[in-house]
Amino acid sequence: MIDKVVQIAKEAGGIIRDGFGKNFSVEYKTNLSNLVTEIDKKSEKAIINFIRKEFPTHSVLAEESGSHEKDSEYLWVIDPLDGTTNFAHGLPIFSVSIGVQKNNEIICGVVYDVMRDAMYSAEIGGGAYCNGQRLQVSTNDDLEKSVLVTGFPYDIKNNPDHAIERFVSFLKNSRAVRRLGSAAIDICYVAEGVFDGFWEVHLNPWDMAAGKLLVEEAGGVVTNFSGEKIDIYSKQILASNGKVHSEMLRVLNSVL
Ligand code: IPD
Ligand code: CA
Ligand code: CA
Repeated sequence: MIDKVVQIAKEAGGIIRDGFGKNFSVEYKTNLSNLVTEIDKKSEKAIINFIRKEFPTHSVLAEESGSHEKDSEYLWVIDPLDGTTNFAHGLPIFSVSIGVQKNNEIICGVVYDVMRDAMYSAEIGGGAYCNGQRLQVSTNDDLEKSVLVTGFPYDIKNNPDHAIERFVSFLKNSRAVRRLGSAAIDICYVAEGVFDGFWEVHLNPWDMAAGKLLVEEAGGVVTNFSGEKIDIYSKQILASNGKVHSEMLRVLNSVL
């Protein structure tokens, strides 16, 4: 199955690359910060058509068109373009994220970083890879020497879940904090050992389904802010190399 997921992620990535920097229509979803472009929809259509052809019995949960339920143990969880704000403004950091669940367990995850042509992939029990290279989380165990990454939900102006205080607290307790604008890429960089940890207060299933498996298969840890295991609907996510996890939990909970 992983080969098929990689194949369609690459195809969707091609659609996105072709549209980058061109004229495309843009609509607003919940507010002026929350965009969807015609390329998001085009990418999603291509992915769903592919699944319909190759795996017609499987269920699908996709960001732009929602739930396409079938009586199946398989569920494809799709973000057709993660990093839409970057894409719409000409910043070349965005991805396609596809996770496949079997009986509510993620068995396969693929994130395609389109402009870097970096294909991140993982199968449960089989390790995590980027363009065929095995991934390993970082070994750093000192939060003060950590470089972290995060993102903000589209309702950040209401500061949900103390998102702003938590961000400030990490700025004071780490080497640096980055905000790239594609949660799926953020999580892949944790799997790759570039960043030591990633957190976000309110993430959707399609943002994290593939990335969660990638980090776990690269030796990292993924929990909520209480240190408990999560599923893709949990919203809160802390993904780290495991070594700075408890320190990150302490910072996350120090602002309350
Ligand atoms: C968003 C990005 C962003 C994260 C947001 C997501 P979208 O996804 O992943 O980094 O902070 O929470 O909603 O809207 O570009 O697919
Ligand atoms: Ca997303
Ligand atoms: Ca998206």
